[in-house]
Amino acid sequence: MWENLEIGLEKVSQEQLKEKPAQDSLGFGLHFTDHMFLMKWDRQSGWHDAKISPYHKFKLDPAAMVFHYGQAIFEGLKAYKGKDGQIYLFRPEDNIERMNASALRMCMPRLPVAKVLKALKALVYLDRDWIPTAEGATLYIRPTMIAVEPALGVRAAGQYYFYIIMCPVGAYYPEGFSPTKIYVTDKYVRAVIGGVGDVKTGGNYAASIMAAEEAHQAGYTQVLWLDACKRKFVEEVGTSNIFFMINDELVTPSLDGSILPGITRDSVIQLARKWGVKVLERPIAIDEVVAASIDGSLTEAFSTGTAAVISPVGELCYQDTKYVINRGRTGEFSQRIFNELQAIQSGQQEDPFKWITRVG
Ligand code: COI
Repeated sequence: MWENLEIGLEKVSQEQLKEKPAQDSLGFGLHFTDHMFLMKWDRQSGWHDAKISPYHKFKLDPAAMVFHYGQAIFEGLKAYKGKDGQIYLFRPEDNIERMNASALRMCMPRLPVAKVLKALKALVYLDRDWIPTAEGATLYIRPTMIAVEPALGVRAAGQYYFYIIMCPVGAYYPEGFSPTKIYVTDKYVRAVIGGVGDVKTGGNYAASIMAAEEAHQAGYTQVLWLDACKRKFVEEVGTSNIFFMINDELVTPSLDGSILPGITRDSVIQLARKWGVKVLERPIAIDEVVAASIDGSLTEAFSTGTAAVISPVGELCYQDTKYVINRGRTGEFSQRIFNELQAIQSGQQEDPFKWITRVG
Protein backbone atom coordinates (compact mmCIF):
# COMPACT_ATOMS: atom_id res chain seq x y z
CA MET A 1 0.00 0.00 0.00
CA TRP A 2 2.85 2.47 0.65
CA GLU A 3 4.00 2.22 -2.96
CA ASN A 4 1.38 4.84 -3.93
CA LEU A 5 2.58 7.46 -1.46
CA GLU A 6 5.10 10.18 -2.09
CA ILE A 7 6.97 8.65 0.78
CA GLY A 8 10.29 6.91 0.34
CA LEU A 9 10.61 3.37 1.60
CA GLU A 10 13.67 1.47 2.65
CA LYS A 11 12.86 -1.84 4.26
CA VAL A 12 15.15 -3.70 6.61
CA SER A 13 16.73 -6.76 5.12
CA GLN A 14 15.60 -10.15 6.32
CA GLU A 15 18.79 -10.50 8.39
CA GLN A 16 18.30 -7.11 10.06
CA LEU A 17 14.82 -7.95 11.39
CA LYS A 18 14.91 -7.63 15.17
CA GLU A 19 13.88 -10.37 17.52
CA LYS A 20 10.50 -9.58 19.06
CA PRO A 21 10.25 -9.44 22.84
CA ALA A 22 8.09 -11.85 24.85
CA GLN A 23 4.55 -10.48 25.08
CA ASP A 24 4.19 -11.17 28.79
CA SER A 25 7.06 -8.90 29.83
CA LEU A 26 6.91 -5.96 27.43
CA GLY A 27 6.98 -3.11 29.95
CA PHE A 28 6.31 0.29 28.44
CA GLY A 29 8.39 1.92 25.70
CA LEU A 30 11.40 -0.35 25.91
CA HIS A 31 11.41 -2.23 22.59
CA PHE A 32 11.15 -0.53 19.20
CA THR A 33 9.91 -1.96 15.93
CA ASP A 34 11.97 -2.52 12.78
CA HIS A 35 11.00 0.68 10.97
CA MET A 36 10.35 4.37 11.61
CA PHE A 37 9.07 7.35 9.67
CA LEU A 38 11.02 10.60 9.33
CA MET A 39 10.43 13.84 7.46
CA LYS A 40 12.26 17.12 7.65
CA TRP A 41 11.20 20.76 7.57
CA ASP A 42 13.03 23.94 6.80
CA ARG A 43 11.84 27.42 5.90
CA GLN A 44 12.79 27.07 2.25
CA SER A 45 11.40 23.65 1.41
CA GLY A 46 8.68 23.10 4.02
CA TRP A 47 8.19 19.38 4.78
CA HIS A 48 10.41 17.20 2.62
CA ASP A 49 12.42 13.96 2.54
CA ALA A 50 9.51 11.90 3.91
CA LYS A 51 10.70 8.35 4.31
CA ILE A 52 10.00 5.10 6.08
CA SER A 53 13.31 3.45 6.83
CA PRO A 54 14.90 1.01 9.25
CA TYR A 55 14.76 2.26 12.88
CA HIS A 56 17.94 4.28 13.31
CA LYS A 57 19.76 6.80 15.46
CA PHE A 58 19.96 10.51 14.59
CA LYS A 59 23.17 12.38 14.21
CA LEU A 60 22.36 15.84 15.60
CA ASP A 61 24.51 18.89 16.19
CA PRO A 62 25.10 19.48 19.93
CA ALA A 63 23.71 22.97 19.32
CA ALA A 64 20.41 21.58 17.97
CA MET A 65 17.83 23.84 19.58
CA VAL A 66 15.76 21.02 21.07
CA PHE A 67 18.65 20.24 23.45
CA HIS A 68 18.72 23.77 24.82
CA TYR A 69 15.27 25.29 24.77
CA GLY A 70 13.09 22.22 24.55
CA GLN A 71 11.11 22.90 21.39
CA ALA A 72 9.71 19.37 21.32
CA ILE A 73 6.17 18.05 21.03
CA PHE A 74 4.82 14.53 20.86
CA GLU A 75 1.71 12.37 20.71
CA GLY A 76 0.74 8.91 21.83
CA LEU A 77 -1.72 6.59 20.10
CA LYS A 78 -2.11 2.86 19.70
CA ALA A 79 -2.63 0.21 17.03
CA TYR A 80 -4.68 -2.86 17.89
CA LYS A 81 -4.99 -6.25 16.25
CA GLY A 82 -8.61 -7.38 16.39
CA LYS A 83 -9.78 -10.95 16.89
CA ASP A 84 -10.76 -10.72 13.19
CA GLY A 85 -7.05 -10.24 12.33
CA GLN A 86 -7.67 -6.63 11.21
CA ILE A 87 -5.49 -3.78 12.35
CA TYR A 88 -7.13 -0.73 13.89
CA LEU A 89 -6.05 2.76 14.92
CA PHE A 90 -8.08 4.75 17.44
CA ARG A 91 -8.90 8.37 16.49
CA PRO A 92 -5.55 8.97 14.72
CA GLU A 93 -6.66 12.22 13.03
CA ASP A 94 -7.42 13.65 16.48
CA ASN A 95 -3.85 12.99 17.56
CA ILE A 96 -2.46 14.67 14.47
CA GLU A 97 -4.78 17.66 14.93
CA ARG A 98 -3.80 17.91 18.60
CA MET A 99 -0.16 17.84 17.54
CA ASN A 100 -0.88 20.74 15.22
CA ALA A 101 -2.40 22.65 18.15
CA SER A 102 0.79 21.92 20.11
CA ALA A 103 2.91 22.99 17.12
CA LEU A 104 1.06 26.30 16.91
CA ARG A 105 1.65 27.09 20.60
CA MET A 106 5.31 26.08 20.40
CA CYS A 107 5.96 28.04 17.15
CA MET A 108 6.66 24.84 15.21
CA PRO A 109 5.46 24.00 11.69
CA ARG A 110 2.01 22.58 10.99
CA LEU A 111 1.84 18.95 9.86
CA PRO A 112 0.04 17.91 6.68
CA VAL A 113 -2.67 15.79 8.33
CA ALA A 114 -3.57 13.52 5.38
CA LYS A 115 0.06 12.80 4.58
CA VAL A 116 0.99 12.02 8.16
CA LEU A 117 -2.00 9.71 8.44
CA LYS A 118 -0.92 7.87 5.28
CA ALA A 119 2.63 7.54 6.58
CA LEU A 120 1.33 6.32 9.93
CA LYS A 121 -0.86 3.68 8.35
CA ALA A 122 1.94 2.54 6.03
CA LEU A 123 4.36 2.26 8.95
CA VAL A 124 1.89 0.31 11.09
CA TYR A 125 1.11 -2.00 8.18
CA LEU A 126 4.78 -2.61 7.45
CA ASP A 127 5.51 -3.49 11.10
CA ARG A 128 2.16 -5.21 11.69
CA ASP A 129 3.80 -8.36 13.03
CA TRP A 130 4.91 -6.27 16.02
CA ILE A 131 1.32 -5.63 17.18
CA PRO A 132 0.94 -7.81 20.25
CA THR A 133 -2.05 -10.07 20.60
CA ALA A 134 -1.71 -10.86 24.32
CA GLU A 135 -4.45 -9.50 26.62
CA GLY A 136 -3.75 -5.87 27.54
CA ALA A 137 -0.79 -5.51 25.15
CA THR A 138 -0.85 -3.10 22.18
CA LEU A 139 1.44 -1.27 19.78
CA TYR A 140 2.13 2.22 21.13
CA ILE A 141 2.91 4.86 18.50
CA ARG A 142 4.94 7.96 19.31
CA PRO A 143 4.84 10.79 16.73
CA THR A 144 7.40 13.42 17.73
CA MET A 145 8.59 16.80 16.42
CA ILE A 146 11.89 18.39 17.48
CA ALA A 147 13.83 21.54 16.61
CA VAL A 148 17.13 20.54 14.99
CA GLU A 149 18.60 23.84 13.80
CA PRO A 150 22.01 24.34 15.39
CA ALA A 151 21.75 27.82 16.97
CA LEU A 152 21.74 29.18 20.50
CA GLY A 153 19.53 32.26 20.16
CA VAL A 154 16.18 31.87 21.93
CA ARG A 155 13.70 31.92 19.03
CA ALA A 156 11.70 29.55 16.88
CA ALA A 157 14.05 27.16 15.08
CA GLY A 158 14.21 27.14 11.30
CA GLN A 159 14.66 23.35 10.95
CA TYR A 160 12.64 20.48 12.39
CA TYR A 161 12.35 16.70 12.29
CA PHE A 162 9.01 14.95 12.54
CA TYR A 163 9.28 11.24 13.17
CA ILE A 164 7.19 8.29 14.25
CA ILE A 165 8.52 5.38 16.27
CA MET A 166 6.52 2.45 17.61
CA CYS A 167 6.84 -0.05 20.44
CA PRO A 168 4.85 -3.05 21.62
CA VAL A 169 3.73 -2.27 25.18
CA GLY A 170 2.06 -3.82 28.16
CA ALA A 171 0.30 -1.83 30.89
CA TYR A 172 1.70 1.63 31.64
CA TYR A 173 1.39 1.32 35.40
CA PRO A 174 2.83 -1.66 37.25
CA GLU A 175 -0.67 -2.18 38.75
CA GLY A 176 -2.09 -2.82 35.23
CA PHE A 177 -5.85 -2.29 35.48
CA SER A 178 -5.77 -2.71 39.27
CA PRO A 179 -6.48 0.44 41.30
CA THR A 180 -3.58 2.83 41.86
CA LYS A 181 -2.68 4.92 44.90
CA ILE A 182 -2.36 8.61 44.08
CA TYR A 183 -0.60 11.35 46.03
CA VAL A 184 -2.21 14.80 45.87
CA THR A 185 0.58 17.36 45.79
CA ASP A 186 0.14 20.90 47.01
CA LYS A 187 3.91 21.43 47.00
CA TYR A 188 4.51 21.31 43.23
CA VAL A 189 2.38 22.52 40.33
CA ARG A 190 2.23 21.31 36.76
CA ALA A 191 1.02 24.25 34.70
CA VAL A 192 -0.53 27.70 34.77
CA ILE A 193 -3.25 29.16 32.58
CA GLY A 194 -1.50 30.98 29.75
CA GLY A 195 1.40 28.53 29.91
CA VAL A 196 1.71 25.25 28.02
CA GLY A 197 -0.22 22.81 30.23
CA ASP A 198 -2.69 22.10 27.43
CA VAL A 199 0.12 21.29 25.00
CA LYS A 200 1.91 17.97 24.68
CA THR A 201 5.43 19.32 25.02
CA GLY A 202 8.34 17.52 26.65
CA GLY A 203 8.98 20.24 29.25
CA ASN A 204 5.67 19.58 30.99
CA TYR A 205 6.76 16.01 31.60
CA ALA A 206 10.31 16.95 32.68
CA ALA A 207 8.84 19.37 35.22
CA SER A 208 6.59 16.64 36.63
CA ILE A 209 9.33 14.13 37.43
CA MET A 210 10.38 15.41 40.85
CA ALA A 211 6.82 15.28 42.23
CA ALA A 212 6.40 11.77 40.76
CA GLU A 213 9.70 10.63 42.33
CA GLU A 214 8.65 11.88 45.74
CA ALA A 215 5.26 10.21 45.35
CA HIS A 216 6.94 6.91 44.43
CA GLN A 217 9.20 7.14 47.44
CA ALA A 218 6.12 7.56 49.62
CA GLY A 219 4.57 4.43 48.03
CA TYR A 220 2.25 6.14 45.52
CA THR A 221 1.97 5.43 41.80
CA GLN A 222 1.36 8.96 40.60
CA VAL A 223 0.62 12.55 41.54
CA LEU A 224 -2.68 14.39 41.39
CA TRP A 225 -1.99 17.99 40.39
CA LEU A 226 -3.88 20.96 41.76
CA ASP A 227 -4.22 24.34 40.05
CA ALA A 228 -1.14 26.54 40.28
CA CYS A 229 -2.79 29.68 41.69
CA LYS A 230 -4.93 28.52 44.61
CA ARG A 231 -3.73 24.92 44.89
CA LYS A 232 -7.35 24.10 45.38
CA PHE A 233 -8.81 22.76 42.14
CA VAL A 234 -8.03 19.33 40.71
CA GLU A 235 -6.26 19.29 37.32
CA GLU A 236 -4.71 15.99 36.13
CA VAL A 237 -3.18 12.77 37.41
CA GLY A 238 0.43 12.34 36.35
CA THR A 239 0.21 11.87 32.60
CA SER A 240 -3.57 11.39 32.43
CA ASN A 241 -6.92 13.13 32.91
CA ILE A 242 -9.02 12.41 36.02
CA PHE A 243 -12.69 11.54 36.57
CA PHE A 244 -14.75 11.20 39.77
CA MET A 245 -18.14 9.53 40.15
CA ILE A 246 -19.95 11.62 42.77
CA ASN A 247 -23.65 11.09 43.48
CA ASP A 248 -23.87 9.08 40.24
CA GLU A 249 -22.60 12.04 38.20
CA LEU A 250 -19.32 11.81 36.36
CA VAL A 251 -17.23 14.89 37.12
CA THR A 252 -14.00 15.91 35.41
CA PRO A 253 -12.09 19.20 35.46
CA SER A 254 -13.00 21.52 32.60
CA LEU A 255 -10.42 22.28 29.93
CA ASP A 256 -9.46 25.74 31.10
CA GLY A 257 -6.08 26.02 29.39
CA SER A 258 -3.80 24.26 31.85
CA ILE A 259 -5.09 20.70 31.31
CA LEU A 260 -4.28 18.41 28.41
CA PRO A 261 -7.35 17.81 26.20
CA GLY A 262 -7.11 14.04 26.33
CA ILE A 263 -8.55 11.97 23.50
CA THR A 264 -9.40 9.15 25.90
CA ARG A 265 -10.99 11.81 28.18
CA ASP A 266 -13.18 12.95 25.33
CA SER A 267 -14.07 9.35 24.40
CA VAL A 268 -15.11 8.57 27.99
CA ILE A 269 -17.31 11.70 28.09
CA GLN A 270 -19.01 10.77 24.81
CA LEU A 271 -19.57 7.15 25.82
CA ALA A 272 -20.88 8.05 29.28
CA ARG A 273 -23.33 10.59 27.80
CA LYS A 274 -24.50 7.99 25.29
CA TRP A 275 -25.22 5.65 28.20
CA GLY A 276 -27.30 8.36 29.87
CA VAL A 277 -24.75 9.16 32.58
CA LYS A 278 -24.69 12.84 33.54
CA VAL A 279 -21.19 14.20 32.82
CA LEU A 280 -20.07 17.51 34.28
CA GLU A 281 -16.96 19.29 33.03
CA ARG A 282 -16.41 21.83 35.76
CA PRO A 283 -13.87 23.05 38.31
CA ILE A 284 -13.69 20.53 41.15
CA ALA A 285 -12.01 21.46 44.41
CA ILE A 286 -9.92 18.87 46.23
CA ASP A 287 -11.97 19.74 49.34
CA GLU A 288 -15.09 18.62 47.49
CA VAL A 289 -13.44 15.30 46.58
CA VAL A 290 -12.36 14.80 50.19
CA ALA A 291 -15.83 15.67 51.52
CA ALA A 292 -17.43 13.30 49.01
CA SER A 293 -15.05 10.56 50.06
CA ILE A 294 -15.94 11.10 53.73
CA ASP A 295 -19.71 11.18 53.19
CA GLY A 296 -19.62 8.24 50.77
CA SER A 297 -20.93 10.07 47.69
CA LEU A 298 -17.58 9.54 45.90
CA THR A 299 -18.00 6.01 44.65
CA GLU A 300 -15.30 5.79 41.95
CA ALA A 301 -12.32 7.65 40.54
CA PHE A 302 -10.21 6.79 37.53
CA SER A 303 -7.66 8.38 35.25
CA THR A 304 -7.66 8.23 31.45
CA GLY A 305 -4.94 8.40 28.83
CA THR A 306 -3.64 6.59 25.77
CA ALA A 307 -0.87 4.92 27.71
CA ALA A 308 -2.86 4.33 30.89
CA VAL A 309 -6.22 3.65 29.09
CA ILE A 310 -8.51 3.60 32.17
CA SER A 311 -6.71 3.41 35.45
CA PRO A 312 -8.91 3.09 38.56
CA VAL A 313 -7.85 5.10 41.61
CA GLY A 314 -8.12 3.14 44.85
CA GLU A 315 -6.67 5.67 47.24
CA LEU A 316 -5.86 9.37 47.45
CA CYS A 317 -3.45 10.83 49.97
CA TYR A 318 -3.98 14.54 50.65
CA GLN A 319 -2.22 16.48 53.39
CA ASP A 320 -1.18 13.28 55.15
CA THR A 321 -4.66 11.78 55.25
CA LYS A 322 -5.57 8.71 53.18
CA TYR A 323 -8.94 8.48 51.46
CA VAL A 324 -9.77 5.00 50.22
CA ILE A 325 -12.14 4.93 47.24
CA ASN A 326 -14.57 2.07 46.65
CA ARG A 327 -12.71 -0.02 49.26
CA GLY A 328 -9.65 0.14 47.01
CA ARG A 329 -11.43 -1.82 44.28
CA THR A 330 -12.17 -1.17 40.62
CA GLY A 331 -15.59 0.46 40.30
CA GLU A 332 -18.43 -0.83 38.16
CA PHE A 333 -18.42 2.18 35.85
CA SER A 334 -14.60 2.13 35.47
CA GLN A 335 -14.78 -1.53 34.51
CA ARG A 336 -17.63 -0.96 32.05
CA ILE A 337 -15.96 1.97 30.31
CA PHE A 338 -12.64 0.09 30.13
CA ASN A 339 -14.33 -2.96 28.57
CA GLU A 340 -16.29 -0.84 26.10
CA LEU A 341 -13.29 1.22 24.99
CA GLN A 342 -11.13 -1.86 24.54
CA ALA A 343 -13.86 -3.60 22.57
CA ILE A 344 -14.28 -0.60 20.25
CA GLN A 345 -10.53 -0.12 19.87
CA SER A 346 -10.00 -3.73 18.85
CA GLY A 347 -12.95 -3.80 16.46
CA GLN A 348 -15.01 -6.22 18.57
CA GLN A 349 -17.78 -3.78 19.29
CA GLU A 350 -19.86 -1.49 17.14
CA ASP A 351 -18.15 1.89 16.72
CA PRO A 352 -21.02 4.41 16.84
CA PHE A 353 -18.68 7.40 16.92
CA LYS A 354 -16.56 6.33 13.92
CA TRP A 355 -13.44 6.39 16.08
CA ILE A 356 -11.54 3.53 14.54
CA THR A 357 -9.62 3.51 11.29
CA ARG A 358 -8.71 0.26 9.61
CA VAL A 359 -5.16 -0.22 8.39
CA GLY A 360 -4.30 -2.32 5.36
C1 COI B 1 0.03 8.92 26.57
O1 COI B 1 -0.86 8.55 27.31
O2 COI B 1 0.13 8.57 25.39
C2 COI B 1 1.07 9.81 27.06
O3 COI B 1 1.54 10.60 26.30
C3 COI B 1 1.59 9.62 28.39
C4 COI B 1 3.04 9.31 28.28
C5 COI B 1 3.86 10.45 28.75
C6 COI B 1 3.44 8.00 28.75
